[in-house]
Amino acid sequence: MNSQLPPPITATDKPLKVLFASSEIYPLAKTGGLADVAFNLPKTLATLGVDIRWVMPAYKEALDLLKQQPIKSIALNGISLLETTLPETKLTLWLVDAPGLFDRSGGPYGDASSAGWPDNAERFYQFCQVISDMALGRATLDWQPDIVHCNDWHTGLVPAWLRQHPQAPATIFTVHNAAYQGLFPYSTFVNLGLDPALWRFDALEFHDQLCFIKGGLMFADWLTTVSPNYARELTQPLTGSGLDAIFRYRQDTFSGICNGIDTTEWNPEHDHYISQTYDEKTLNDKPLNKGELQKKFNLEQNPNHCVLGWVGRLSEQKGIDLLLDSLGELIKLPIQLVLLGRGDARYEQALVSWAQKHPQQIAVKIDYKDALAHQIIAGADFFLMPSGFEPCGLTQMYSQRYGTPPIASNVGGLVDTVVNITTESLSAGTASGILFSPHNQNSLLSAIKSAIRLYKNPETYRVVQQNAMSKDFSWQRSAQHYKAIYQHITASAGVNRYERYY
Ligand code: ADP
Ligand code: GLC
Repeated sequence: MNSQLPPPITATDKPLKVLFASSEIYPLAKTGGLADVAFNLPKTLATLGVDIRWVMPAYKEALDLLKQQPIKSIALNGISLLETTLPETKLTLWLVDAPGLFDRSGGPYGDASSAGWPDNAERFYQFCQVISDMALGRATLDWQPDIVHCNDWHTGLVPAWLRQHPQAPATIFTVHNAAYQGLFPYSTFVNLGLDPALWRFDALEFHDQLCFIKGGLMFADWLTTVSPNYARELTQPLTGSGLDAIFRYRQDTFSGICNGIDTTEWNPEHDHYISQTYDEKTLNDKPLNKGELQKKFNLEQNPNHCVLGWVGRLSEQKGIDLLLDSLGELIKLPIQLVLLGRGDARYEQALVSWAQKHPQQIAVKIDYKDALAHQIIAGADFFLMPSGFEPCGLTQMYSQRYGTPPIASNVGGLVDTVVNITTESLSAGTASGILFSPHNQNSLLSAIKSAIRLYKNPETYRVVQQNAMSKDFSWQRSAQHYKAIYQHITASAGVNRYERYY
């Protein structure tokens, strides 16, 4: 894998034009960290002189949020491209309004009761179709990108299609989560009318299924993922989501770049969601948020209880099953658990039932609420992130910025963003949380016991909090890396690009 920046390119005066395609963008549509990244990375790239513009499906919730804003409608092959700017930015956003496909109640990928919309293949095929038309200058816009930056499987067909056009813009494909691959039966491949030449093991076919993500993995000019350690994991059989051979094959054009966070939105000094703002020097004020949190969740306001916070999707990826398995032992310790999350019904039910049986120690809110996420991250003493795998993870970075050290699995981007507490890291002034492995109950429980010991040692706990708070999680460095890749792929576009597959 390519851990170096691509070779420097001679600077040109013309700003690079980039179309950033994502199925979710904060604040218009969000199910997870992809939305945060799709908002913040382009914003930062714009400050670096990149002419970057967004494209996203026109979901009902997005249209509702944009009601007050001027929107221009552009007709394109039976669909409408709605042109506007993303709130709080001056940057252009196009929404793809395809009749019947996106403007419906429910989430971007399914309603609350289903695993996914039954027409997801058609929905994201259409999305890809429009992105490709825009890229090829077929959309009567007075702007055509030099690069299309695609994200996750929903945009995977774009690099495959653009590869068929010698004059097409260069493409970069970012993998936020290789476990979501956009898999559909062969009949869907046929029904969508996809080019039969793409039904190959080195194109869109994957174990006899249509695999959207492979379009990005096989055909994009450059591949990235969201942390260096996850990039390494993706090249290994046990951790590569079945795609490890492809990541090894692409290793010269594949980089792991750590996500950043929105340091304005997530700033304990100016957070309007929390009762008491604070910074590294006023950490004595932080426990006021703990008291408020305990009150809100009907937990005893006893400072001696160590509060463990959790905010995240209730899915296997996040290690919720491991946490559930450990709760019986956990409640024997002087802890309180405050959990906010939504996800698989079986986990939701199990958590609610634990909270009903142990209301003094376990408080659960099955919901998705920005304000509460901030209050937990500020009010907890430690932040739990026992993920089975984690491409990058944002919440462990938020929690460090709030002086709430994470207790996290030793996987993926958690390894790149949390410095485990050891004698060495304490003397180096870098220790910022607890990393545990292997991924089992004993190891999680012993990490939580270490956290309790640390909490009872206020001086060292304070040092760890301050180390965590002083870390730079801003987007600047990572955005520079993306910009260097943009420059590299535009300069090398056209060189041997079309020989490999057609
Ligand atoms: P993933 O994208 O895998 O879900 P990340 O850590 O990258 O994980 O990003 C999760 C994002 O979603 C964060 O911004 C987090 O605050 C937010 N989030 C997740 N669950 C909730 C919830 N129940 N309420 C509010 N925000 C949530
Ligand atoms: C995915 C990953 C998460 C990552 C996010 C943003 O949802 O699960 O680890 O932080 O994308 O890249």
